[in-house]
This record gives sequence, C-alpha cells and structure tokens, in this order.
Amino acid sequence: MAFSHAQTFADAVVSDILIPADEIQRKVVEIGRRISRDYDGLNPLLVSILKGSSFLMADLLRAIDIPIEVDFIAITNYGPATRSSGVVRLIKDLDRSIENRHVLLIEDIIDTGLTLNYVLKLLRGRHPRALDVGTLLNKPARRLANISLRYNGFDLPDRFVVGYGLDFQGRYRNLPYVCVLKPSVVSF
Ligand code: IMP
Repeated sequence: MAFSHAQTFADAVVSDILIPADEIQRKVVEIGRRISRDYDGLNPLLVSILKGSSFLMADLLRAIDIPIEVDFIAITNYGPATRSSGVVRLIKDLDRSIENRHVLLIEDIIDTGLTLNYVLKLLRGRHPRALDVGTLLNKPARRLANISLRYNGFDLPDRFVVGYGLDFQGRYRNLPYVCVLKPSVVSF
C-alpha cells in the first residue's frame, strides 16, 4: 500500500485510538514500580509469550529497579485469526528451570483466557514456588477460563484491537497506541 504526503500509514488504517501511547507508558511505569516493591528480594523470573508481549516486556523491564531474570516462550494458536481456540502448540520453550522460582507471567492481552490457561497449566507442572500473572490489557467480557490477575493495566470493551505489540494477521504491532482498525482493513 502506498501513502500520499498527507496520509500516513496510521491515518489509513486506524479507526479509534482506545489507549494513547503516553497513557500506556504511564501505566507500564506504575506496574513496574509495583513489581519492584512486591518482588524485592525474591529474584523473580519474568516470562512472556512471543511475539506480542515482547513490546510490553521491553518497556516494563526498564521500569523495574530490582534484580530480575527474563525468559520467553513462543506458541501458536490454532483457529481463526481473531479468536482464540485454546488449542496451542509450544514452539519455543523456556531456556531454564522454573522450579522453586517466583515466576511472573507477563501478557499483553487476555481475552477468553484459554491461551493463558494452557500456558499456566504447563508452567504449574514445573513446580514454581509462586506463579502469578500480569497483563496490560484485559477483556473481561469474553473470559472463558477463570484467571486471577496480580497486575491488570486496562480493562477493554469487547473489540479487536491492535498496536503496542498486538497484531492483525501479523501487522500493526508497531503502532505505539492501542487502537481499533477501520472495517475496510479488517476482513474476517
Ligand atoms: P485468549 O486465549 O482468548 O485470551 O487470547 C489470547 C491471544 O489472542 C492473545 O495473547 C493475543 O495474541 C490474541 N488476542 C486476543 N484478543 C486480541 C485483540 O483484540 N487483538 C489482537 N490479538 C488479540
């Protein structure tokens, strides 16, 4: 797609901005401060799921001022592009053991919760000392799995959003805010 001078990439695809970039950054700093306080002395391991959560993770880590370690897993969701089936395949495992560790799983968005439920079950089976969840975005209206959140940035309405790491068909992760796409862009 080519854009004229007056029309930026974002103008062409974005319908509504739900959370502006500066609000996201303020919230990330606040959650980072809380994590620093809550996990002081516990040498926590922060785990996130590639690829979407890596944007949040990069900002969050810089807002934490205690010693921490970081690890990543990668999964693929089967099923339609915009709806979770909860059927997940692990394509990259953690690099190290989590046994006896204080583990904090960092998610970008929780929708039905089915994906996270699968990952939590997997990690629980490895006997961490504690396993908690923090998410930047939460869509409580669509929850199908019961998940308790230690940190929750923003509750969202039931709308498909992109930006700040979230994609539609692999695109729009680089938008710095959380937004809804124009209907012309999203063809289900
Ligand atoms: P869940 O299993 O329904 O909670 O969805 C989990 C995954 O679906 C998230 O980690 C995202 O990758 C994706 N997802 C859910 N809602 C959205 C959305 O509004 N925009 C982009 N991706 C989403």
